[in-house]
Amino acid sequence: MNEVLKAIHDRRSTRGFSDVQLTEAELDQLLGAALAAPTARNTQMWHFSVVQNRELLDEFSRDFAQIMAKNGGGAPAPDRLFYRAPTVIFISRPETCDNRFVDVDCGIACENIALAAQGMGLGSVIVGLPMQVFLSERGAYYAEKFGFPEGYRFSIAIVVGHNTVTKEAHPVGEGKVNFVR
Ligand SMILES: Cc1cc2nc3c(=O)[nH]c(=O)nc-3n(C[C@H](O)[C@H](O)[C@H](O)COP(=O)(O)O)c2cc1C
Repeated sequence: MNEVLKAIHDRRSTRGFSDVQLTEAELDQLLGAALAAPTARNTQMWHFSVVQNRELLDEFSRDFAQIMAKNGGGAPAPDRLFYRAPTVIFISRPETCDNRFVDVDCGIACENIALAAQGMGLGSVIVGLPMQVFLSERGAYYAEKFGFPEGYRFSIAIVVGHNTVTKEAHPVGEGKVNFVR
């Protein structure tokens, strides 16, 4: 199969990682893939914060668990947010901007990272749940700690590393496509 198609079809959300950190060369390739993504009007209104500080990721995960517990959803194990991956890439974007597709752009970059990771033999999972923390009173603290540029807010994140687990491909929904010919 064509290598791009193979990466697309073999990619899975992997939710378990070893402690082995990414090399600088691997990080360069992942970020290169992110920055090569298309954006509306080539605006590139995004920022990538590569967070590898275990204490900070654990602190964030504990805050997440507390917020979820407070919201009545039951407290998930803190490891259920970043799955103990050694690297999380947070993508942020301007709070206000004239690009109505800015979150789409961030999502496309995120998928580029996921596909690059797949092609490099790494695992990944896109995570939107950190939004809960960024929307809480702790949001500004982490935006600063993670180095979001002034006036930027969280869009999406992706967890990357050497996965220790995998899963089946997700079932493909019926009726998701129609043709007008
Ligand atoms: C925008 C977005 C947000 C997501 N947020 C989370 C998340 O917070 N935690 C998680 O474990 N998976 C998250 N996922 C992964 C989805 O659950 C996963 O893509 C879906 O179940 C299909 O499985 P697959 O990725 O293995 O094909 C997210 C995926 C997307 C695209």
